[in-house]
Amino acid sequence: MPPNRPLMFHRLADHYDDLVGAKDYRSETRFLESLAQSAGRSRGRAWLDVGCGTGRHLSFLRRHYTVTGLDASRAMLRVARRRLPGVRLVLGDMRTFALHETFDVVSCLYSAIGHLATERDLRAAFANFARHLKPGGVAIIEPWIDPSDYHSSFTHLVTHRGPSATVVRMSYSSRRGGHSAVHYHYLIGENGRPIGHFEEVDIGLLVPRDRLLALMESAGLTARFQREGLTPGRGLLVGIHGRP
Ligand SMILES: C[S@@+](CC[C@H](N)C(=O)[O-])C[C@H]1O[C@@H](n2cnc3c(N)ncnc32)[C@H](O)[C@@H]1O
Repeated sequence: MPPNRPLMFHRLADHYDDLVGAKDYRSETRFLESLAQSAGRSRGRAWLDVGCGTGRHLSFLRRHYTVTGLDASRAMLRVARRRLPGVRLVLGDMRTFALHETFDVVSCLYSAIGHLATERDLRAAFANFARHLKPGGVAIIEPWIDPSDYHSSFTHLVTHRGPSATVVRMSYSSRRGGHSAVHYHYLIGENGRPIGHFEEVDIGLLVPRDRLLALMESAGLTARFQREGLTPGRGLLVGIHGRP
């Protein structure tokens, strides 16, 4: 199955950073680096960010690590390339990519794995992360919202007014069985153009933390969940390649 491709990651990729708004990638990266140093056992400096999007974590990570970014969206990578000249950025699907090398850290952040539709896809992605880690290397994965924390009937509004565009996103969350379904409406006003309206329903897989940890373990990662993370309420899954 092709990856779930929300509009934000292709048609609206040029507005992704505006929509994300005040997310503090610099301090998030500091936190991730210290987690990688304390959890990892391989001690090298090679970092792969899977689902790197527009490359904002990479822009800080590159100061201390040799970085590679991978994403399934050409449009997101195009934005990342403008931000990160000289950085290796690869088009690929997290379930199937094969770089034929290993890294000290593989990260997958801002719930990029939430876009996988089935447990089978998650298994494939975790196995692939493990395959790309050195022995003792660490996977740092930011999960999608835990099913017990996911609120239906929730309305959320984001607006951004920039010099060349005004962007509005309003969303409404609901559930479809074991999936989240967030209905987004976008209004994009670019200077000199009529206002564009786009809408879509973004489907995410709701998987309990214990199940995510079990899937990581079966991929050969010694896994734990930690509450302290990046996005409030999501925490982080941390997996060391190999057994303790
Ligand atoms: C919410 S964005 C996060 C981007 C970035 N990590 C950040 O923190 O801003 C999710 C990203 O995951 C990518 N993505 C979704 N499904 C993917 C897949 N199967 N393989 C690789 N990337 C994928 C999307 O294209 C998008 O850039």
